Amino acid sequence: MSLCKICNNDLETVISFGEMPISNRFVSDLTEDEFLYDLSIGFCPECFMVQLEECVDPAMMFNEDYAYFSSISKAMEDHFEEMASEIIDIVSEKPSPFVLELGCNDGIMLKHVAAHGIPHLGIEPSANVAASARQKGVHVLEDFFNATSASEIKNRYGQADVICGANVMCHIEDINSVFQGVSVLLKPEGVFFFEDPYLADIIKKASFDQIYDEHVYYFSGLAVSELAKRHGLQLVNMVPQEVHGGSMRYYLSKGSENRVTKNIGALLAVEKGLNLHSLKGYVSFKKRVDSISSDFKNTLLKIRAEGKRIAAYGATSKSTTFLIYSKVGVDLIDYVSDTTPTKIGKYTPGTHIPVKSHEHFILDNPPYTVLLAWNHKREILEKEKEYREKGGKFITFFPEVTIE
Ligand code: SAH
Ligand code: TYD
Repeated sequence: MSLCKICNNDLETVISFGEMPISNRFVSDLTEDEFLYDLSIGFCPECFMVQLEECVDPAMMFNEDYAYFSSISKAMEDHFEEMASEIIDIVSEKPSPFVLELGCNDGIMLKHVAAHGIPHLGIEPSANVAASARQKGVHVLEDFFNATSASEIKNRYGQADVICGANVMCHIEDINSVFQGVSVLLKPEGVFFFEDPYLADIIKKASFDQIYDEHVYYFSGLAVSELAKRHGLQLVNMVPQEVHGGSMRYYLSKGSENRVTKNIGALLAVEKGLNLHSLKGYVSFKKRVDSISSDFKNTLLKIRAEGKRIAAYGATSKSTTFLIYSKVGVDLIDYVSDTTPTKIGKYTPGTHIPVKSHEHFILDNPPYTVLLAWNHKREILEKEKEYREKGGKFITFFPEVTIE
């Protein structure tokens, strides 16, 4: 039995997917063995955190070969520009502002803060994306954020008015150390906010592709509130976000009851209605996951039986779990189209489907395309209007398999 990484209590297993490769490690050489680990998530009945039972060494995931560049989508660019304006507003009246972002990746957000001449620092362990951020004028410390690096940052730069992170808090196994670091680095009146894929959305849609090596935690407001209390922080606001198939932004501050917003009560009540604080909330999850994955495979088998070809769109890290668990590989999907230069020419982890350029997809014009990057659906359907007008069909799968 695994133990909760936050409070050391026994975890109750929610679902096991079996052996998986590293989801963002695209394969160049098919003769090389891939590293595998056992993917399963558990629920802690004590502090309500849903989490991976077995974690992968962060240095194996976040390094100079990190495949995910945040600036791959116009919608994400817009999202982070909005986040930057909120931060710029928060610090505009501060006498000596300082903004800190954990996991700044290629500088998609901090480049706006930098352009306003605001003192800032991005903490980013993956050298390739950190270099891309620097090219955009962003100050980057190439390191993992934790209590130790936080003390070093404090000694060198002082405390921050804003500490933020998007799609990074859920990546860090030693989250107690991260929260300790934030407590040390945040000014007494400072704001700490972060956003990650939202557990309630994952449970409601059975979007199990969100479960993979990098996602150690699946946050709910109930669990974040408990975690914050352990570190002298308070959850004061929650704001739902559309990105990544449904995310939640959590705002935390140092104490002061009166900053708690009205949103909190309503959103936590919805979470309690879904039983996210009890094992009851997770009992039907596996059944729904199994039903989607078998429907998905059967749909592809039917299309292939009609003699039609199938491609996929978006070589996402999340599709690693989805494809492997659904037992769908090169036998059913010819290739995955992706715009990320470092992914093109390689193969998807575990399933070894070739990653090809978007130009290839346009020329090939496959009759069916699995939309693996379903979280970017609006942007992609808009971009691929012509493909659809010519008869091309997209296959999506959460909360159910749909062809449109
Ligand atoms: N914030 C960006 C990037 C998310 S990907 C966005 O939302 O698009 C997660 C990023 O966090 C990666 O660039 C990874 O290298 C970085 N990361 C992983 N562990 C980290 C840690 N302990 N401290 C800071 N960054 C970390
Ligand atoms: P994303 O779903 O953001 O993340 P993750 O890897 O965390 O699951 O990844 C989207 C992928 O889809 C990325 O590799 C870029 C690709 N993509 C395209 O090829 N074309 C597009 O129009 C968009 C929006 C994304």
